[in-house]
Amino acid sequence: MREWVEIRIGKDCFTQWRTAARRLFIQNVAPHEIDWRCAPGGFASGLFEEVAQQSHDRGPSLSGREAPHVPSAFLDLAEVICCHSSPLRLSLLYRLLWRLQEEKRLLSLITDPDVHEARMMAKSVRRDCHKMKAFLRFKEVGAPDRRPRRSFFAWFEPDHHVVARTAPFFQRRFTDMDWVIATPKGSAIWNGKELKLSDAPQANPGIVDETDDLWRTYFRNIFNPARLKIKAMQAEMPRKYWKNMPEAELIPELISGAEVRVREMAQAMATQPPLLHHRIKEAQAMATPKANVLNEGLEGVRQAAETCTRCPLYCNATQTVFGEGPENAGTMLVGEQPGDQEDLTGRPFVGPAGKLLEGVLSDVGLKRDRLYVTNAVKHFKFEPRGKRRIHQKPNMSEIKACRWWLTQELELVRPKIVVAMGATALSSLVEKRYKLSDLRGEAMEREDGGQLFVTVHPSYLLRIPDQGKKREEMQRFRDDLAKIRALGERAP
Ligand code: URA
Repeated sequence: MREWVEIRIGKDCFTQWRTAARRLFIQNVAPHEIDWRCAPGGFASGLFEEVAQQSHDRGPSLSGREAPHVPSAFLDLAEVICCHSSPLRLSLLYRLLWRLQEEKRLLSLITDPDVHEARMMAKSVRRDCHKMKAFLRFKEVGAPDRRPRRSFFAWFEPDHHVVARTAPFFQRRFTDMDWVIATPKGSAIWNGKELKLSDAPQANPGIVDETDDLWRTYFRNIFNPARLKIKAMQAEMPRKYWKNMPEAELIPELISGAEVRVREMAQAMATQPPLLHHRIKEAQAMATPKANVLNEGLEGVRQAAETCTRCPLYCNATQTVFGEGPENAGTMLVGEQPGDQEDLTGRPFVGPAGKLLEGVLSDVGLKRDRLYVTNAVKHFKFEPRGKRRIHQKPNMSEIKACRWWLTQELELVRPKIVVAMGATALSSLVEKRYKLSDLRGEAMEREDGGQLFVTVHPSYLLRIPDQGKKREEMQRFRDDLAKIRALGERAP
């Protein structure tokens, strides 16, 4: 008589399959004797805590068989395949598990039908994860001015059970907003602290919002009719995803008008901009007063900065990273420019340099949330290298362009102590050129009556290779911050 095991579909599928497979293997249940069944996910916890199983007594002689041995590559593969929606995946994995005991090199035999099938399944799951990351569209729900956290909802229809596998990506990418991702194969909820996963199937509430128009505008702008390759485009963005992508409704129209657009583009070829054109545009942008932003306080300036185009850095950065902290803070820390993580989250000093800074601040008894923390330059400047974005120092014209915003922050916060962390901050705060080491560690008078204190940038400490020197420099930095704390306590 055949035995059966029931595994719950969803985030725990792999763990359940692994436990059951190990038990069955030890009980010597061969692949052809077992019926792997899948129960729908999303039941209240507790109902299926144990893997449901019907087994028959195989007699005492067979108990005590050794646990199976498999290469770690098999476990990685099995974890991916468990996300596949095929009901045959669990029996395929169990068959492979048995075969691997004798055929040690089985996984490298790509022409073997079982191995081929497994590889195809894993490929399909990985592709589904990739599509979910690329084509999931968040829509804002609730009041958009709910700061600092706003709420978003996304509906997606994956082919496989990939919600749990992709959710950590969205958690990292959209960490500063609350969101729900709902799919017919489960959901993920992020509230800034905890990622909750459920296997319960969801229904599409059909939310429409203004970001749909933004997606359409974006897509219209990036669509280049001269580079249109319909087959490649359809392979990359298959039709089944279109219905949940607001911009997809433009595709037929853009494709059918492509030929005419290419002809029009050729006729209206742009003439070369005059020499120094960029510099002239930059100077004009800097000269344009931003309408009444100061009347609306720090929040108004912050909002105005979101659409800043005063220098070309906005073109490649994800967003403006404005300063944060209380409007009446007594101390303002000024860094250089946002890094990779700051660019993604929209907050200053949240990456490795920020962590180091926070640690030293707390060592000397300063609380970050009592300080105003900002940067001389508000957009991330980087050079793409492979998948990484490598930090590049802002040049003087970028620092000057962004000084406009720093000046607004200084005028609105009116800190008693301004701390320049690193040479970029120093050259933004003091027009004359000084060497940082000449000014470091001493408080100086500022024109507005406040004090300026100069120290190094925390990233400098992260880059010191020699451990002894690093300890020494960390202590100097700690001493500087302790002086800043003492200055703050003495300031009127
Ligand atoms: N470095 C900076 O200067 N600023 C940040 O916000 C992060 C790293």
